Amino acid sequence: MATVTFDHATRIYPGTERPAVDALNLHIEDGEFLVLVGPSGCGKSTSLRMLAGLEDVNAGRILIGDRDVTDVQPKDRDIAMVFQNYALYPHMTVADNMGFALKIAGTPKAEIRTRVEEAAKILDLTQYLDRKPKALSGGQRQRVAMGRAIVRSPQVFLMDEPLSNLDAKLRVQTRTQIASLTRRLGVTTVYVTHDQVEALTMGDRIAVLKDGILQQVDTPRALYDTPANVFVAGFIGSPAMNIGTFPVLEGAASVGSSRLALPREVVGRLTDDDKGHITVGFRPESLDTVPQGTQDSFPVVVNLVEELGSDAYVYGALTNEFGAAAAVHSGAGDAQIIVRVDPRSVPKIGDTIYVRIRPNEQHLFHAGSGERIA
Ligand SMILES: Nc1ncnc2c1ncn2[C@@H]1O[C@H](COP(=O)(O)OP(=O)(O)OP(=O)(O)O)[C@@H](O)[C@H]1O
Ligand SMILES: [Mg+2]
Repeated sequence: MATVTFDHATRIYPGTERPAVDALNLHIEDGEFLVLVGPSGCGKSTSLRMLAGLEDVNAGRILIGDRDVTDVQPKDRDIAMVFQNYALYPHMTVADNMGFALKIAGTPKAEIRTRVEEAAKILDLTQYLDRKPKALSGGQRQRVAMGRAIVRSPQVFLMDEPLSNLDAKLRVQTRTQIASLTRRLGVTTVYVTHDQVEALTMGDRIAVLKDGILQQVDTPRALYDTPANVFVAGFIGSPAMNIGTFPVLEGAASVGSSRLALPREVVGRLTDDDKGHITVGFRPESLDTVPQGTQDSFPVVVNLVEELGSDAYVYGALTNEFGAAAAVHSGAGDAQIIVRVDPRSVPKIGDTIYVRIRPNEQHLFHAGSGERIA
């Protein structure tokens, strides 16, 4: 078992100008489950492949434990990878699939058998050891792929979207199994996903990447409660955070026809770059529905109501006094504002409701740089 360190690790693909991963600094503790998350193309797989030794590192270093592995062959790094397309050998039994890497390494037969049986027990695959992959369900096949990694008892597990071939229900089950399994084994794990819900539920810590640049790395709670910038704010959380940029007038943000009072020290921190504006974020659950005329409330016209049983969400539009939509959008990118409402008394489509941001639950960012205002 070991720590993993990315030290200014950079990958520039031949023929491209912008680095796919740009000076990544990340230290992962021994036994930690770290999730790399971000939108498609942000450099997650590239980071993982640099750690695996499958991709050249053009600048910086990568360490496993105290050992600089930047120029070490993949097979000598003592890691095991589980990919999205974990092609199993169709002509081999489950047991042979799981033990294949050990066989190649020349491990004695009896030892292979013992380690495969141990892994099968952990993964609840014992009764399938003599079957061929085609006689297994998708989830069972995925566990066989995990088994292949486990039998090697590596220092680090690397997983690149290992659940994306599974249906929604199985994904949820399997992600819980993987998270508890790797913790039980105590193996340092780097797990790649583009799904922020998966990241929040699985990671000890989450590293958020965008355009090859690390945005923030912290616990799920800290990312949710104190996103470092507008990108992380919009990316983490489902439904997404509402985010809008508003003019600052006399110490308050003008939200549609309403005013949102701002702390004085925040107003003092605004820079020329912000051009007299502030970006305000508020999660759907941070809005209270209040009577018309309540101080600091603003009107939302209901476009859609999503009822989920335990929760209900209003998707609406913010209006100013002229009835035109103001510049708020949810982090999902559409020109909607999302409000969590009491599922036992939901408004109708076309209604206007009045909402107010709960005290201290707004997130304030520089309109210029998008960075959080501390
Ligand atoms: N072999 C390659 N040659 C040139 N560019 C590449 C190569 N592989 C990846 N890239 C580029 O590098 C960037 C990062 O790619 P990467 O595969 O790491 O993204 P990702 O975060 O894993 O995305 P996804 O969620 O879609 O899997 C992308 O812009 C991609 O187009
Ligand atoms: Mg990828």
